[in-house]
Amino acid sequence: MPIRTQVAIVGAGPAGLVLAQLLHLRGIDSVVIENRSRSYVEQRIRAGVLEHGTTDLLTDAGVGERMHREGMVHNGVELLFDGEGHRIAFDELAGKGIMVYGQHEVVKDLIAARLATGRPLYFEVSDVVVDPAAAVVRFVHDGQPVELRADYIAGCDGFHGVCRPAIADLTVFEREYPFAWLGILAQAAPSSHELIYAYSPRGFALHSMRSPTVTRNYLQVAPDEDLDEWPDERIWSELRARLDRHGGFTLTDGPILEKGVTTMRSFVVEPMQHGRLFLAGDAAHIVPPTGAKGLNLAVADVKVLADALELFYVKGSDSGLAAYSTTCLRRVWRVQHFSWWMTSMLHRSRDGDPFEQQLQLSQLRYVVSSRAAATSLAENYVGLPLPG
Ligand code: APR
Ligand code: PHB
Repeated sequence: MPIRTQVAIVGAGPAGLVLAQLLHLRGIDSVVIENRSRSYVEQRIRAGVLEHGTTDLLTDAGVGERMHREGMVHNGVELLFDGEGHRIAFDELAGKGIMVYGQHEVVKDLIAARLATGRPLYFEVSDVVVDPAAAVVRFVHDGQPVELRADYIAGCDGFHGVCRPAIADLTVFEREYPFAWLGILAQAAPSSHELIYAYSPRGFALHSMRSPTVTRNYLQVAPDEDLDEWPDERIWSELRARLDRHGGFTLTDGPILEKGVTTMRSFVVEPMQHGRLFLAGDAAHIVPPTGAKGLNLAVADVKVLADALELFYVKGSDSGLAAYSTTCLRRVWRVQHFSWWMTSMLHRSRDGDPFEQQLQLSQLRYVVSSRAAATSLAENYVGLPLPG
């Protein structure tokens, strides 16, 4: 069955769904296809920090109502090392804060908004094949083969999707890290008002949250860490050890609702476009989670893409589309650097290199004692202005 649209969007993660909403608001037609079920994408636990520009964009796109009601505005984070916490005050240093609101909540809000538009969003499609030259996407939905013909394809299908492999000549830039994060979601009140990034001799730990009754915590572990080796009591006692400080720290525990190990990598492909296919979000780049940037970078890409498509459909100019990759990559590399820098500063290497540890401590002391250095962290963390 052939169907026709202006923009075929592959993937209903944050990138695909935000793009669909931005295009809808500009009167541009799209079809979104997703290979997972609606409940799967709505329950998938991911990060939870939204840059200021991301919250503004979601608000302007009409999907910020629940986020403003349930999300938590944070005006700083704490860096903990040598047994002492140091606050980086985002509002004072960068003039804005961040929003703590789970990515899957953003996804739920975006799906509801998409369904309300009446425009198509197909879940549980299979056998997706994209043709970047012809802008055709073939897939199977409800047992029926579908041929979706478009002017353009947005490849928003994440790191393991089919769009990036459909492009032959890509330059890949990649770095794998010799550690991973063991993450838990727990029914426990947060033990701090703001996030705590802890550098400890036992490895990195992060204390984060989702609501006044739910915390999210991470521990640096080995990339091949076996979750079976981590019963709940061991996770809590390791978090306590790494978050400990002079004068003590009380970590509230509770039932663990979800547990998983995430590997860490930095990854970029260039260019982010080929023929009539545009890659956006994790399909084009991955950052290690230490800078809390994955979702925010995906949103920045699709903002550039939506503006470029609007220029094409409204003014008949393809200049925005031609510049898409170059425009996006400038921010991608800034965010790559920040994410790599935060990661390198806060994690202990497995071989315990003493020279590296002294450099890390020196960098941490500098960041918390120099207003210039703290401002640099703050402005990157809250997010540099979105293009356009
Ligand atoms: N066809 C259709 N959909 C697909 C296909 C395919 N062949 N392959 C993957 N998908 C879907 C995935 O199931 C997922 O829902 O594409 C979506 C991609 O979404 P994400 O992986 O969430 O990527 P993205 O939208 O770029 O979001 C950016 O920020 O916090 C980080 O990595 C985190 O997901 C996050 C990302
Ligand atoms: C999260 O809350 O899941 C989170 C917060 C900050 C990060 C990464 C993840 O840097």
